[in-house]
Amino acid sequence: MRTVIIYSSNTGNTKKVAMAIKEVLPRGTEIYSIEKAPDPDNYDLILMGYWVDKGNADIKTRGYINKISAKTIGLFGTLGANPTSDHALIVKKRVEQPIEKKNRLIFHLLCQGKIYEEALNKYNKMLEEDPSNAGTKAYIENFYKALNRPDKKDLEYIKNEVRKKLNNMDLLQT
Ligand SMILES: Cc1cc2nc3c(=O)[nH]c(=O)nc-3n(C[C@H](O)[C@H](O)[C@H](O)COP(=O)(O)O)c2cc1C
Repeated sequence: MRTVIIYSSNTGNTKKVAMAIKEVLPRGTEIYSIEKAPDPDNYDLILMGYWVDKGNADIKTRGYINKISAKTIGLFGTLGANPTSDHALIVKKRVEQPIEKKNRLIFHLLCQGKIYEEALNKYNKMLEEDPSNAGTKAYIENFYKALNRPDKKDLEYIKNEVRKKLNNMDLLQT
């Protein structure tokens, strides 16, 4: 079983998750940032990490996904929103669509990631203009919730889920 981890990460959240997943896999498992990603045809199992950009996987991940066919794929992603929110569920479906057509998707895990600083400035400006806007207040609250994510608990959760899934499918060979 030739396995590779590929991750796309702008500010480091998804990279943290990718590094945690590497700990679960056999020693020497290859890991690459998307910028240095090898040809997917060299592998059987591809663990693919993305960050959520405007309701979809980031553009680099989408480009890479288009090149993959007839592989076993595990997806993981980070986003600013709550991973169990409606927004997250919509994103998941959107990301899965082009993969499921041509591949076997075995898991898709999301976890919350710190939101870029400029977003807070934007929310604060919005609140200045409309101080009673509940939606903006919720954005600000969520910004602070996400501040230290992914945290240790998130990473343990992801590791456990990946370990369970790969073990159950006999894909975790040492
Ligand atoms: C341009 C931009 C667009 C984003 N769009 C979304 C979004 O639609 N939904 C969401 O939940 N988070 C969104 N985020 C937050 C990121 O998905 C989140 O911070 C992610 O963990 C970043 O991952 P990275 O550190 O690996 O780059 C966006 C961030 C940026 C910079």
